[in-house]
Amino acid sequence: MYRPIYHFLPEKNWMNDPNGVCWFQGQYHLFYQHNPTKDDWGNIHWGHAVSEDCVHWRHMPIALYPSHELGELHCFSGSISVEGELPVLYYTSIGAKEDGRDGRFGSQQWCAVSHDGMESFQKWEGNPILKIEDHDGLILREWRDPYVFKREDGWYMVLGSVLEGKGAALLYYSPDQFTWKFQRVLHSAPIEKGRSWECPNYFKLGEKAVLVVSPSDCPIYFYGREEANHEFIPEGEGILDYSGFDGFYAPNSFEDNKGRRIMIGWLTEGARGELQIPGWKGVQSLPRVLTMESDGLHSNPLPELSSLRGACEKHENFSVQGLWKAGTEGKALEIQLVFEKAAVKDKLQLQVFADPSGEEKTVISFEKETDRILIDRTNSNRTGKTSSKELSCAVAEKDGKVCLDVFLDYSTLEVFVSGKEVISTRVYPDREDSCGVYLNAVEASVDKMAVYVMENIWETAVD
Ligand code: FRU
Repeated sequence: MYRPIYHFLPEKNWMNDPNGVCWFQGQYHLFYQHNPTKDDWGNIHWGHAVSEDCVHWRHMPIALYPSHELGELHCFSGSISVEGELPVLYYTSIGAKEDGRDGRFGSQQWCAVSHDGMESFQKWEGNPILKIEDHDGLILREWRDPYVFKREDGWYMVLGSVLEGKGAALLYYSPDQFTWKFQRVLHSAPIEKGRSWECPNYFKLGEKAVLVVSPSDCPIYFYGREEANHEFIPEGEGILDYSGFDGFYAPNSFEDNKGRRIMIGWLTEGARGELQIPGWKGVQSLPRVLTMESDGLHSNPLPELSSLRGACEKHENFSVQGLWKAGTEGKALEIQLVFEKAAVKDKLQLQVFADPSGEEKTVISFEKETDRILIDRTNSNRTGKTSSKELSCAVAEKDGKVCLDVFLDYSTLEVFVSGKEVISTRVYPDREDSCGVYLNAVEASVDKMAVYVMENIWETAVD
């Protein structure tokens, strides 16, 4: 009923953040925070999957287990560096509070090396590579999630934390990948809603340096200049995705062999509310490609996703007055919709996961008055147990038109707005027949609409 068919998720049990996502020796690798014994958070391992195209995934054995004999209870998030002689996995090691090793004050940074092309990882004997005391007197808490990258003069790591009540990203340096030293606070800012800055990513894109953080709410980014001494001077900021714990969180990004900055985030289950779905929790988002433009980051779905398109229904230059039903139905679809703002009177709605009676539906609408895209989940699930928080973002345009690219997959919904903004969230249509696709408007003209039935990634072969 709710299990997606073209998004990555483990066969069973709990998953949260993507970790160490990378391109290595001809394959994409996705690791993830995983509880292999329960469909709830806890006992955190690193799960692993590989893919030739970043779309079709194959499950691999668990990559990282907590070392109980060393007082470790969880292997928290991190990254993998594949630019050295061997792949090195960096993560945050968490132990028991009684041992002074809890996530709030006692986290440590550890690493593990692979000698067999990432089939397995061996923890380094020199762990921990960094401790919370190693900060020249700065008092940190919630210090975690190493993101490692290479520059001409060596290796760098960014960690997230809370410093003096602010979210902070801290920078470290290593000449050899194993001996690390704290350099400076890379950036910090008040945490308005969240607890701390989690899962930082730091990379160069186009002419800019970009810092992404997850502040227990919508992931945000800062972009700006990087000075020769690696000082980061922010010039602008933005929101990466607009649903926070009701959708996309803790993204991890990497550069692939084609030079693309690809990002995957955790599609959380916060919106499930009281709804009981036994056996699994957590889905990874579709991979998106980030580019840096004059108005900040742009996000587009990975082009390879088009290989999942099956049967297609297309319409061009038509008008909508009242409710209009597409011929295609389904719970795993991609829908593209192109229109001009001026051609819409008041609002244009795209209704998905809609049953024939109108009891259940999820409504994505363009509202002219506010100039925003809205997702209304009030009637997404007839039991009323799931989140109905309204989500929205400013409408963006491409070549003078609004271009929506909407992906639905049983309980996931990702709305790309003209290749700029994204709203990703979860909805749980409860009726088997909540498969309809409708447009609704008092009066609107639509330039293009395409509805594709999407294939199951676990059944389709990769070319
Ligand atoms: C983000 C996060 C990370 C942490 C991990 C634990 O969702 O809280 O900061 O490493 O999850 O599973």
